[in-house]
Amino acid sequence: MAGRPRVATKLGTLRRAIASLRRGGAGIALVPTMGALHDGHLSLVRLARRRAGRVLVSVFVNPAQFAPNEDFASYPRDLKADLAVLGETGVDLVWAPDERTMYPDGFATRVVPEGPARAGLEDAFRPHFFGGVATVVTKLLIQCSPDVAVFGEKDFQQLKVIGRLAADLDLPVKIVGAPIVREPDGLAMSSRNAYLTPDQRKIAATLFRVLKDCARRISGGEHIARVLDDGVTEIEGAGFTVDYLEARNAATLAKVEQLADGPLRLLVAARLGRTRLIDNVAVS
Ligand code: PAJ
Repeated sequence: MAGRPRVATKLGTLRRAIASLRRGGAGIALVPTMGALHDGHLSLVRLARRRAGRVLVSVFVNPAQFAPNEDFASYPRDLKADLAVLGETGVDLVWAPDERTMYPDGFATRVVPEGPARAGLEDAFRPHFFGGVATVVTKLLIQCSPDVAVFGEKDFQQLKVIGRLAADLDLPVKIVGAPIVREPDGLAMSSRNAYLTPDQRKIAATLFRVLKDCARRISGGEHIARVLDDGVTEIEGAGFTVDYLEARNAATLAKVEQLADGPLRLLVAARLGRTRLIDNVAVS
């Protein structure tokens, strides 16, 4: 199904469009995004298509998850290009509200996640972030009432926070995680990769290379803290400033000391110039 997909920008239109999508008993899968779509996002859309008869993609750059010093103003936005690729991928409906539709005058309610949102990873460097994500994702799940919602493992802590949120609020939706899609050199695809200069872009793949190397050494029985120290040295040697490089329990995000505390996931956040990149890998 090529061509521009149907777009709703107001709640009334969204509700009517969802009611018509549901006619005949089709299930709905939602893929929430902030636009500037790349193949990582599209892999979520393809997974959504396998999970439900109808696919809805939301495109909303959510101001509530950016701190004042962050990149909300410069975050890449190109709804026209996004609609063109979504048309080619064959989505049934795009929900693209503006800021006043999502947060009308007088808006005064926030969802405050705890548990995985307080694991001391992203939250330690972006304290406002998961409150903003949880609030908008709760709204999206209520607005769109999907049967399934797909999120990427690229934002591993976010995926855990949303799984917890949906369970805690008894939202009748299945949260599905999707694997990370990478560039040929291993860099995890991200809308923020567009900020990288050509030189930084070459360096950026270090992150995944070091993560993989650390995972291999840890699964080979080497001391976790020592391996991660070496990893930080190597990433910083390439020109990054590391916010964190940690091994955590993949299910709970609890801190770990040894392989037996697993299944383990290695998570990294590091800054290259003004660009902050995150990535993670499983230790198998
Ligand atoms: P955004 O960064 O646009 O990402 C939308 C979804 O795409 C997220 O679930 C993210 O994990 C996934 N994604 C991004 N890059 C990916 C990659 N390389 N491989 C696989 N999946 C990838 O995450 C957000 O938006 C927002 O926080 C949102 C959940 C929409 C709430 O505003």
